[in-house]
Amino acid sequence: MSNINPWEQAYLRFETPEEEIEKFIGRLNQLGQKEWPRDLKIIEIFCGRGNGLIALKRLGFTNLMGVDLSPALLKSYQGDSALCASDCRWLPLADGSCDMVIVQGGLHHLPVLPDDLELTLAEVKRALRPGGKFVMVEPWLTPFLRVIHFLSEQRIVRRLSKKFDAFATMVHYERETYFSWLGQPEKLLVVFRRHFSEVFFRKQYGKVLFVGYSS
Ligand SMILES: C[S@@+](CC[C@H](N)C(=O)[O-])C[C@H]1O[C@@H](n2cnc3c(N)ncnc32)[C@H](O)[C@@H]1O
Repeated sequence: MSNINPWEQAYLRFETPEEEIEKFIGRLNQLGQKEWPRDLKIIEIFCGRGNGLIALKRLGFTNLMGVDLSPALLKSYQGDSALCASDCRWLPLADGSCDMVIVQGGLHHLPVLPDDLELTLAEVKRALRPGGKFVMVEPWLTPFLRVIHFLSEQRIVRRLSKKFDAFATMVHYERETYFSWLGQPEKLLVVFRRHFSEVFFRKQYGKVLFVGYSS
């Protein structure tokens, strides 16, 4: 794992691929995947090692592509969907070329907020056909997440739980962007709602789930 940075190593330790795939399937169920046509052209941005793509494939979706900045994480993807190494602030996609864009934990890595969120969502909107859907799951500072933060700061908890230790390590390496993201929920919501017409919004267990249409 020598070409993998410490954040990526902790991310790989945090949960097994199978656990992550199950988690993604659970979320996609909540987000209404049963109603989505199986041949939608779906782009997963910030796709990491591609377990979101594997979850979508298992649910029967056939036309998938993943985009992520990290060649090392993309390399660990074990599937047959198209992949592209790129910065999601500038998507390598033609205008109106896809039906749905999904992000499951990536926007909180953007360095300059809310400007980079503006850039990324403008790109998503450009790549979506009119009426296309944007689906997002990102960390959100709910009471549950505050408890998780508190626990992951306790040395004894980190020693007893590999998962908490991996979580604390990830937070340490992404702290600037992560806390910048968590610290301005109202501003971020304004940006989502300006780019997309909201059809689903829920905060739960330290996450925000959002679905909106491109008009
Ligand atoms: C928490 S991981 C995402 C997990 C992922 N959704 C999955 O399905 O496995 C965050 C990802 O964002 C990627 N990333 C960070 N900044 C990025 C950017 N500007 N453009 C594209 N990807 C980026 C990282 O390489 C990392 O894979």
